[in-house]
Amino acid sequence: MAYSASKSIISLAEGMPNEETFPFTEISIKLYDNSSFTLDKKELAAALQYIPTQGYPPLVQALREFQRRAHAPPLWESRDIVVVSGAQDGVSKVLEAVIGTGDPILVPDPCYPGVEIVVAPHQAEVITIPQDDDGPAPEILREILRSRKLSGKKMPKIMYINATGTNPTGIIIPLERRKEIYHIACEYNFLILDDDPYHFMHFEKEEPRSFLSLDTEGRVIRLDSFSKVVSSGIRVGFVTAAAPLVASVELHLQSSHLHAPTLSQVILYKLMKMWGYEGIMQHYMRLRCFYKERRDVIAALARKHLNGLVDFNVPKGGFFLWIKVRGIENTWKMMMQRGITEGVIMAPGAAFMTDTSKPCNAIRASFAKASYKDMDLAMERLAQLIRAELTKNYTIENVDSR
Ligand SMILES: Cc1ncc(COP(=O)(O)O)c(C=O)c1O
Repeated sequence: MAYSASKSIISLAEGMPNEETFPFTEISIKLYDNSSFTLDKKELAAALQYIPTQGYPPLVQALREFQRRAHAPPLWESRDIVVVSGAQDGVSKVLEAVIGTGDPILVPDPCYPGVEIVVAPHQAEVITIPQDDDGPAPEILREILRSRKLSGKKMPKIMYINATGTNPTGIIIPLERRKEIYHIACEYNFLILDDDPYHFMHFEKEEPRSFLSLDTEGRVIRLDSFSKVVSSGIRVGFVTAAAPLVASVELHLQSSHLHAPTLSQVILYKLMKMWGYEGIMQHYMRLRCFYKERRDVIAALARKHLNGLVDFNVPKGGFFLWIKVRGIENTWKMMMQRGITEGVIMAPGAAFMTDTSKPCNAIRASFAKASYKDMDLAMERLAQLIRAELTKNYTIENVDSR
């Protein structure tokens, strides 16, 4: 109320501290192209203060305009946006709004582990949908839903999807598959939570069309994040969904951290305003080139060192190479024990399985940060690990039960 009230109203209503007591008097930010911006007195006061839960109003407006232009979502007037503290916050706020105790949820297998940690305390029934090279298999999804309905089981209200540059598999769900999954969602009446932090970090010629852009029934909840494209420490993401769903997330935010960090939101607003839509897209293009080169390097190194030992698809987006090891049922011990002692850390595939006790022959390697020299060494060490595992040519210490 205080935020939107006219200036003639005197408010003694809110419990905000007085900004004059804050020790900061100026914040200036320099960008990589040597341009810069400074938060003026008014902006700084706003940046250091409580704001409405939905987000810093000018940023919320800028994000609305951005979403409209980037995705042209149908039913735009019935949707809204709420700023959250990154995509993970969005995942947890949305799922907690939708999932009741013991409710079923559809997730791709393998899956980003940030989903399981949210739904496990609610004893959700996780229904896994196996993935092929194009993402969750629609015919299996449909069959699972059909037989659940026939047997009178509780039907899922939501499916979690990570459509572009999927973590951990690096795929992009093609448009036809997206349409098919959306169609099934309409048929069986469930929501789609599209956690899409790598949307602008694809390595294809064409921009992927988001689930939001296909959503003619208001059943897609879209999560965006600035983590991968501006800064992960800034902790800002945003949820775009049907207005009542956004209102639920807002209420939940009020009960947890009131709102996402104001300073981060004001900085992002200034950046968006300074760059404009075209400038943001140019920045995303620069990121794509940066990570695409890294993707090409890791793929070449994997071919060089792991030839004949593994299978992998070249990632189409995101940060990860998903390597399937031949002749090894489970990579867990190899990576978690021997990998560490041999000086190479990569994530074992079982970490992305809903049932982590099940064996998985895959490994997730990130190409986002390591130097090319380190990537080369890591692949060389991985090849040694795999060869030793295949011939059992090592000594076991501290065997982990997995
Ligand atoms: C698929 C997916 N969702 C969510 C997140 C969390 O991102 P954020 O930093 O925006 O919370 C990640 C981070 O790795 C991710 O890969």
